[in-house]
Amino acid sequence: MKFSLNKAVNRHPGHIIHLQLKFTVETTKVLFSQATALNGNANEKLVWRYYGDVRKILTILKPATAVLSPKSVDRFSEILEFEADSFIERIAQENENQTYINPYENLQLCSLNIITTTCLAIRFDSISDPIFQKIARFVHGSMIYASMAGDIGSFFPGLVWLDTVTRKQKEMEDFVHEYRDIVYEKLVSNALNGDAECLVKNLYQMMDEMNLDEDDILVFMSDFIGAGADTIAVSLYWTFAILSQKTDVQDRVIQELDDWRKRHGNTNELPRFNEHRDEFPYTMCVQKEIMRFRPTTNFGIPHSASEEIIVGNYVIPKDAILVSSMAAMHMNPNFYDQPEVFNPDRFMSNTQRMSKAANCKPLERDHFGFGWGKRICPGIHLAEVEIFNIYVRLFTRFKIEPELDASGAPIFIDLNDFEDYGIVAKPLPFKVRLVPREVD
Ligand code: HEM
Repeated sequence: MKFSLNKAVNRHPGHIIHLQLKFTVETTKVLFSQATALNGNANEKLVWRYYGDVRKILTILKPATAVLSPKSVDRFSEILEFEADSFIERIAQENENQTYINPYENLQLCSLNIITTTCLAIRFDSISDPIFQKIARFVHGSMIYASMAGDIGSFFPGLVWLDTVTRKQKEMEDFVHEYRDIVYEKLVSNALNGDAECLVKNLYQMMDEMNLDEDDILVFMSDFIGAGADTIAVSLYWTFAILSQKTDVQDRVIQELDDWRKRHGNTNELPRFNEHRDEFPYTMCVQKEIMRFRPTTNFGIPHSASEEIIVGNYVIPKDAILVSSMAAMHMNPNFYDQPEVFNPDRFMSNTQRMSKAANCKPLERDHFGFGWGKRICPGIHLAEVEIFNIYVRLFTRFKIEPELDASGAPIFIDLNDFEDYGIVAKPLPFKVRLVPREVD
């Protein structure tokens, strides 16, 4: 891969390297990341754990990748549809009881339930469920601790003493004990003793073969839940924020849905991702543009160089931590025409599945929200299906409108500001009104 470097680098790890990728070459073999997330000091064995060696990471990622493969996700389609239906029912109910709603927690519950049902054979009915609250708190906290600001010692090894001085390590340990160990140990134990099939049971059956211990499985489960729950919720939360200001975009999505229904004999059924996705090109573009315009994660997950690499006149030392900015890539005017403008039509010539586009050559990519290089998110297909299921249900019944102030003027959500949630970046809290559609 060719880089143009606009800031000097020296040979000492821990220095910040400002790389600007030129999308001109193929793969990034050498930048293969060694850690699941952070090859951290304070975080090791705590939040997003470094699994020790590459073989172990690959071994533990195997069942994860298997469970997230399109074939496997399709086996769970009833669960995905059920959770999307339940989400719509919950927000419809809330919308009836109050003028404006904030959908975030219900989005979290929806995506979390999908992961917990498949992995731990448990789901939660409501956002007030105390276990859901604890898991949501843990996911939130782990996103913060795993981010650059939350784990300064991992990113700047010279500053590891700061973590000790600020009692960060002790704080993390207490947090992980209270919110991860106690809660997840109970959930894992219930899953192992229950009758339902789930991922954690499979992992226990393969423990010897995979050389895993119970702690590995616990950490893996919590990483998996963290990776699959808030990411989708945040992406859909941006959807509500952005589309509440884009009536014209909603109208085109709704038109596509209505046209589909007519083509299918005015059926009461809902479109399904595998069978009908290709009949929704504009809706697909909207989903891609939302992920480009406001990426779920501004910096993705750090990678580390598994060996020293020389790029032009520069050296990236072995073990250097590489942090790339998805937000900057998405605002690159050489790659996206008028990147600051929200324009779903820019993708009309690239409506292929995001899981396919993510594996294309760099110049053929749609966006980089799921990562870049060789190692990218294995949950793309699941994410696409979940998002599709919510779109077709939401826009069959509602239009999203902004909150109004006392004088009746819309309160537009500031799309240029966001709440720093560590790894993910979500809009500042907002409310919207769901206006029921008049369906003929
Ligand atoms: C909109 C939704 C999602 C976004 C934006 C997203 C984004 C990302 C990104 C940027 C990475 C880092 C890739 C890298 O550079 O190494 C990642 C990794 C990962 N994601 Fe996702 N993700 C999403 C949904 C999901 C879902 C639903 C799952 C299912 C559990 C999932 C599971 C994972 C896992 C296990 C990893 C770690 C892979 C590894 O260590 O190689 N993600 N995701």
